[in-house]
Amino acid sequence: MRVFLAGATGVIGRCLLPMLARAGHEVIGMTRSAERAERLRTAGVEAVLADALDEAAVRAAVLAARPDAVVHQLTSIPPRINPRTQARDFELNDRLRDEGTRILVGAAQRAGVSRILAQSIAFAYEPGPPGTLHGEQDPLVREPPASFRRSAAAVASLERTVLEARGVVLRYGYFYGPGSAISRDGSFGADVRRRRLPIVGSGGGVWSFIHIEDAARATLAALSADGPAVYNIVDDDPAVVREWIPALAEALAAPRPLRVPAAIARLAAGSYGVAVMRSSQGASNERAKRELDWTPAYPSWRAGFRTALG
Ligand SMILES: NC(=O)c1ccc[n+]([C@@H]2O[C@H](COP(=O)([O-])OP(=O)(O)OC[C@H]3O[C@@H](n4cnc5c(N)ncnc54)[C@H](OP(=O)(O)O)[C@@H]3O)[C@@H](O)[C@H]2O)c1
Repeated sequence: MRVFLAGATGVIGRCLLPMLARAGHEVIGMTRSAERAERLRTAGVEAVLADALDEAAVRAAVLAARPDAVVHQLTSIPPRINPRTQARDFELNDRLRDEGTRILVGAAQRAGVSRILAQSIAFAYEPGPPGTLHGEQDPLVREPPASFRRSAAAVASLERTVLEARGVVLRYGYFYGPGSAISRDGSFGADVRRRRLPIVGSGGGVWSFIHIEDAARATLAALSADGPAVYNIVDDDPAVVREWIPALAEALAAPRPLRVPAAIARLAAGSYGVAVMRSSQGASNERAKRELDWTPAYPSWRAGFRTALG
């Protein structure tokens, strides 16, 4: 297959490129940077220069590429997430998910491409009763906290656009592993080493993680899936905050994390930052394992953190 990969130079794109090549696909990678385009070419990938928000450029790039599939891995996520400035920091990311998705999907449709895959998140579900593990049929968050409001609307818009085009939405869990924020060199790694990632309150929030290589492998598998479809791409082991933060510290040989009361944490991280640590809920990968030719090579972050970060 000829695969047009928008976001070829990001954390997931870089991991996906060699897998696509090994599976016999020809890849056309999109980037804004001439230097990164050159690096893609050196790695044996066709490269096109386009800004995802420039409709004419994206249309021309997709049309010229004559792809069989269009894969949307465009994000603009700061290397360090600051819950206090999240709304401002995610402005471009939200535009990419909303406007950028409409442009890319529109370009795919004009070029006659019906196989469309796009990156979404497995942590934007409407909260359920305590202990809920979300399946894809669950609704997305209806009344998000103020600092996440525009981002939640952008996620919903991305999914709507992709599903209306009969595409496949991949709701990835929190990435960990090389190049991601949860890595030896990433911002979480740095924060844990400086004891700046405390357990907030009882640390009862639940996160669903995915090793970056497992996310890329699932994406490759999803190229054979028929849309419209939505898949949670997460590991088998929903992670309670009070367990995964110490495990991350241990994997990095960092000091034991601090514990901070929610009221104090709120001053530094705002109420959304505290909610993410205290009340977030995980997601289930049952559908992806059942319907895609995929199962995570890192089924649990417990061993995954040690292997990827140790
Ligand atoms: N589920 C998750 O946990 C999740 C998901 C995604 C990212 N992240 C985290 O976010 C951080 C940053 O991610 P990242 O390294 O992938 O970088 P990023 O800055 O989010 O960029 C991702 C990709 O989007 C492309 N892009 C961004 N804006 C574009 C635009 N206007 N036009 C065309 N292409 C555009 C970039 O291409 P060029 O810059 O080459 O143009 C790059 O290929 C990492 O720490 C990662 O772990 C987490």
